[in-house]
Amino acid sequence: GEQDAQYVVSLFRSVADFPKEGILFRDFLPALADPQGLSIINQAMLAALPVEADKFDAVAGLEARGFLLGPHIASSLGKGFIALRKSGKLPPTTLSQEYSLEYGTSTIEMEENALSHGDRVLIVDDLIATGGSADAAAQLIQRAGGKVAGFSFVMELEGLHGRELLSEYPTSTLVSMP
Ligand code: PRP
Ligand code: HPA
Repeated sequence: GEQDAQYVVSLFRSVADFPKEGILFRDFLPALADPQGLSIINQAMLAALPVEADKFDAVAGLEARGFLLGPHIASSLGKGFIALRKSGKLPPTTLSQEYSLEYGTSTIEMEENALSHGDRVLIVDDLIATGGSADAAAQLIQRAGGKVAGFSFVMELEGLHGRELLSEYPTSTLVSMP
């Protein structure tokens, strides 16, 4: 409940001017290092699914921190996990999608045949900032023949309005941070 959310937020670390000047970096890894924090986050992600579990077929996670959350959700629901990786990491054949970030540009890739046509996919990540990564992930899933069932995040950086970019999809976030 509310106390669990407050406890998890108390474990987040905020770092000014990282990785670039002017960015207030929210680090959720200390919450994973805490046994109780890890357990709360894993359970809360399952409790706050943006759509019912029978409305998606697979879970996709964004490198790097989506990899720490997605497999637990997938495994708990009897589904598989698909890795959306930064460019140059996956062997051919891949689909690539470039996008802009709060601090630069990047490219994510997925294995071209990871999905069967029409597979519905829940996309998972630690945090939504501008929404650029999540939007690129949605485009990849669709280009691979899948459908985006929704998005699950631990944290939303509300000042960056990333959720507006995902307004057409069911989206859940555990906590909002300024
Ligand atoms: C961070 C974060 C999200 C993304 C959010 O990852 O984990 O994936 O940025 O930002 P956005 O909403 O503006 O796209 P980052 O790209 O820093 O990669 P990393 O986890 O590999 O360090
Ligand atoms: N923390 C972690 N990842 C991020 C952030 C942040 O504040 N902004 C964009 N990606």
